[in-house]
Amino acid sequence: MTIKDIPQKNLEGKNILVRVDFNVPTEKKGNEIVITNDLRIKAAIPTIKYLIDSKAKVVLVSHFGRPKGFDAELKMDPIAKRLSELLGKKVSKLNDSIGPEVQSAIEKMQAGDICLLENIRFYKEEEKNDTEFARNLAKPFQIYVNDAFGTSHRAHASTAGVSAYLSPSVAGLLLEKEVNALSGILKNPLRPFTTILGGSKISSKIEIIKQLIPKVDTLLIGGAMAFTFVKAAGGEIGESLYEESFIPTIKEIDILKEEHAVAIVLPEDMLCAKKEDLISKKPDKELHIFPINKIPAGYAGVDIGPNTIAKFSKMISQSQTLFWNGPMGMFEDPLFMPGTKGIAEALVEVTKKKSITVVGGGDSVSAIEELGISFESFTHVSTGGGASMEFIEGKTLPGISCLDKKMSVKN
Ligand code: 3PG
Repeated sequence: MTIKDIPQKNLEGKNILVRVDFNVPTEKKGNEIVITNDLRIKAAIPTIKYLIDSKAKVVLVSHFGRPKGFDAELKMDPIAKRLSELLGKKVSKLNDSIGPEVQSAIEKMQAGDICLLENIRFYKEEEKNDTEFARNLAKPFQIYVNDAFGTSHRAHASTAGVSAYLSPSVAGLLLEKEVNALSGILKNPLRPFTTILGGSKISSKIEIIKQLIPKVDTLLIGGAMAFTFVKAAGGEIGESLYEESFIPTIKEIDILKEEHAVAIVLPEDMLCAKKEDLISKKPDKELHIFPINKIPAGYAGVDIGPNTIAKFSKMISQSQTLFWNGPMGMFEDPLFMPGTKGIAEALVEVTKKKSITVVGGGDSVSAIEELGISFESFTHVSTGGGASMEFIEGKTLPGISCLDKKMSVKN
C-alpha cells in the first residue's frame, strides 16, 4: 500500500511520520559540513510535496552516518538547510527525535508545515529496533510513511518497528518507484537482458550472480572480481586482486550458467599498472594493456582495456534491458576511469534508444556523479546501495514487509 492509496482528504491535518534516507555523503570544509551528493534528498521530494499538498503535518526522520551516541558532526542541520533550499520552504529542524520537544513542536505545526527530527541513530535503541523506543517514536503520529528505500534492508525502530504502532503504514513514492523499477527488470525484462557487474569482490556479489543467472541472457563481468574467474580457469593475473577461497564458487557458477544457457563474458584485455606504483600511490604510473589471462608478475589489473570497452559497449547497445552494478576498475583514480566511463556512456546511448537501464549500488552511482552524467540519462538510478543489492538477491526487506498490504485508514 502506498500514500496514493489513502484518500488525500484523509491526510489533511494528520501528523505523518515519514522515514527518509538522508544518509548523504559529506565533507568537512573548515567547520562546515558540506553535502557532496544530494541525490537522496532530491529523491524524497515527490513524497514530501505530495504530503504538503495534502495539507498534512509532515515530520521527517532519518539516520545520518553511523554515530555511537550523540555526534555534533552528524546533526541533521545541513540536511534540513539543503532540503529547505530544494523545496523553497521552511524546514524546521528539531534537536531531538523523540520525547516532549518533538511532541510540543508537532502541536504547534500548521497543516502543510514540515520539520526534520534529529539523527535517529543518536539513540542506540534505533538500531536495536527496541519496542518501547518504537512505541514512543510513533506516539505523536497517526500515519507512517516509509520512503527510505536505501535503509529498507535494516530492521530498525524507525524503518520497521514503528509500523506496529501506526495504521496505516504505507510506502512513499520513492519506495514505490524503486520497487517497481527493480522488480520490473527481474519479473518482465525485455530481451536481451544484460547485467553488467563490477567491483572488487566476488564475495560481495555472489548471491546476486546466482539470483541473476536464471533471469539474464548475458552477464558481463568487469572490475577486480573478474580475476577470480580468470584464476579459476588457470590464467595468469600477475599481482591483481582475487579471492582464493571463492575459486570453488566459480565452478558452481559455471554449472549454473550451463544449466540456464547464459553467457558470462569476461574482459579480454586489462589496463595494468606496476604494483609498486600502486602501493606508493605514484601519480604518473607506467600503464600497459595485457590480455586478462597473461598479466605478468609485478603488474596488477586496474581497469578493463580498450578492446573490452568496445566489446561490452557493443553488447550493451544490442540489449533491451540492462542492470549495472559496480565499477569496471579503480575509478577513483582518473587514470583508471575509462572502463567505467565507457560502460556508463554505452548505457546512456542505449537509454536513448528506449532500452530500460537500471543502475544500482553506491559505487556505480558515485562513478556516474564523478563523470558528470545526469541521472536522468538512465531509466532509473537507485538510491539504495545495500538495499538495492538485497532486493535483487530476492531477500525480504524489513522496511517493506512491515508495511500494510491493504487499506485500514481511520478517519
Ligand atoms: C546506506 O547508505 O546504504 C543506507 O543509508 C544504510 O546505511 P547503513 O549501512 O549505515 O545502515
